[in-house]
Amino acid sequence: MKEIKRYLVTSALPYANGPVHIGHLAGVYVPSDIYVRYLRLRGRDVIWVCGSDEHGVPITIKARNEGVSPQDVVDKYHALIKDSFRRLGISFDIYSRTTSPVHYRTASDFFRTLYEKGEFTEATSMQYYDCEAETFLADRYIMGTCPHCGYDRAYGDQCEKCGSTLNPTDLIEPHSTITGSVPVMRETRHWYLPLDKHEAFLRQWILEGHKEWKTNVYGQCKSWLDLGLQPRAVSRDLSWGIPVPLEGAEGKVLYVWFDAPIGYISATKELTPDWEKYWKDEGTKMVHFIGKDNIVFHCIVFPAMLRAHGGYILPDNVPANEFLNLEGDKISTSRNWAVWLNEYLDDMPGKEDVLRYVLCANAPETKDNDFTWKDFQARNNNELVAVLGNFVNRALVLTGKYFEGRVPACGELTDYDRRTLAELPEIKKALENDIENYRFREALKEAMNFARLGNKYLADTEPWKIFKTDPGRVATVLNVALQITATLATAIEPFMPFTSEKIVRMLGIARPRWDDLGRTDLLEVGHVIGTPELLFEKIDDDLIEIQLRKLADAKAANLARETPVEPQKETIVFDDFQKMDIRMSKILAAERVPKTKKLLKLTVDTGIDKREIVSGIAEYYAPEDLIGRQVPVLVNLAPRELKGIVSRGMILMAADAAGKLILLNPADETTNGAVVG
Ligand code: MF3
Ligand code: ZN
Repeated sequence: MKEIKRYLVTSALPYANGPVHIGHLAGVYVPSDIYVRYLRLRGRDVIWVCGSDEHGVPITIKARNEGVSPQDVVDKYHALIKDSFRRLGISFDIYSRTTSPVHYRTASDFFRTLYEKGEFTEATSMQYYDCEAETFLADRYIMGTCPHCGYDRAYGDQCEKCGSTLNPTDLIEPHSTITGSVPVMRETRHWYLPLDKHEAFLRQWILEGHKEWKTNVYGQCKSWLDLGLQPRAVSRDLSWGIPVPLEGAEGKVLYVWFDAPIGYISATKELTPDWEKYWKDEGTKMVHFIGKDNIVFHCIVFPAMLRAHGGYILPDNVPANEFLNLEGDKISTSRNWAVWLNEYLDDMPGKEDVLRYVLCANAPETKDNDFTWKDFQARNNNELVAVLGNFVNRALVLTGKYFEGRVPACGELTDYDRRTLAELPEIKKALENDIENYRFREALKEAMNFARLGNKYLADTEPWKIFKTDPGRVATVLNVALQITATLATAIEPFMPFTSEKIVRMLGIARPRWDDLGRTDLLEVGHVIGTPELLFEKIDDDLIEIQLRKLADAKAANLARETPVEPQKETIVFDDFQKMDIRMSKILAAERVPKTKKLLKLTVDTGIDKREIVSGIAEYYAPEDLIGRQVPVLVNLAPRELKGIVSRGMILMAADAAGKLILLNPADETTNGAVVG
């Protein structure tokens, strides 16, 4: 085995066309942050690069929809993403962007080198062209029916329903997503990376050389390789992107998946003048953290590019994760079905580590997984508060109470004490093993085992019961508990850096070194610890309700948007309409109808009389919000008895496709009894 001299860790560059959400975090950024923080604690030479992926069709589509330039879109989201990562404690050494000048130069040079080495093939082909928009329709600019599953909104590069990779020409009944028109075929010329030429090498390198890769990653690579690799176009006919750096290539840009991974190299160059040793020396261990939709690009295409170029190392591992779902449904940016990081940070200040904890505990490491707010609440209350917070708090509070905050001396250890302490190095070993093998969920359990062990130790030794009779024993117990607390502070740092920081601050020590984990002299006798504060707060139902309400609103909005409007009813004559007597009326009183969820009893002044109307709006308006409002009322509707109340008339409201009711207010207040028509 070759010696590892340094680590280069990369995390998939997120597209700067929207904020990042919990799916990105659980799949890529939380695990890679844990890995890197761990390596740093161990004193390894490690750099971690990331940045925004700012080219590609989704960005230009977004810009077009919002009537702004692609540069405006990426400027906005780059700033938002970068800031929210920082707020969550995601500790990249550099967060760059693919519109940076260094990247333009690096990607252009890379392309030119491959071109000059004869590593590309060139070919003309017929591609879809939108005559109205006067542009070729690459990737997501074209939509149609998926030939594999029949989904009618598949894109030119991928079907989001069944996940298959597509070419625009695979689509049945294609249409342009720009103008909706049916495209024609036109001839165009592009550069291709002949992956077939690298197939034998890749087979050997992955299928023989990397049997230790995660089964999901290995399996995807194997099925690609077994299908046989085809040349892949590395240029596009688009205006947004890095221009193809060749004479006569006007109007052509690099394919986003060609330039983006080179972004890892550019970011490293921006970070350090020493970048070459991280990319070119065999002593570097390179690890790519990605989601499963990126596997082929990182295991097949990018390695082929690096190899074609020559002089670069290849990744040692690509620990791709599966997907995280949200409350049972696939996370979707366009359908607003997500928990957005920036919103979470605003809604839940001080709970950064709770999110990190829950996302790691639920990380979709081997299969897709589900995030639910109930689980979030339960893990906070039953694990963070009840185990971690409780242990640290007890150890510190009892030390304050019995020994004025001074670390008490450790007397003679009992067998039980010894057995407890003997577990520490075992947990440490398991924790290291898990992290180094990219099993972060298991690793988190091990880190929490320090707290579990400490909690059990205090519960079993019950120092609060024996202080009066045996203060010396209590001193020993609390000394042991405090030493475990110090170990815990370092062990949880990769997972929960803010909490780790709080613990070391409360202990009043420098963070113990990783190699010292499990030692029993981390705190000196007599050392004065600081004031204990609670590490975690219980999360009540109200807080969870707010989040569930947000999701319910998103669902209703999607339903309303996706359900076709009701078709028009059959024609009536004016006299039919005239039969309805509609009057502006003021709501004087409103109360819930007992034992119903939907009904309110309203008293209204119709100008003709004052009367009672039962209305099904209780889910949408509180009684106190209605009083004093003027609304149109159909006053000559035949009376009807509902729940023992005679309802005389009907409040006219608008109902959307999801059935949500909206009150209609007059633009200006008028007299009660004014005729509507
Ligand atoms: N932007 C891509 C995505 O979100 C990931 C790019 S990773 C890189 O799926 F390697 F190309 F940078
Ligand atoms: Zn499909």
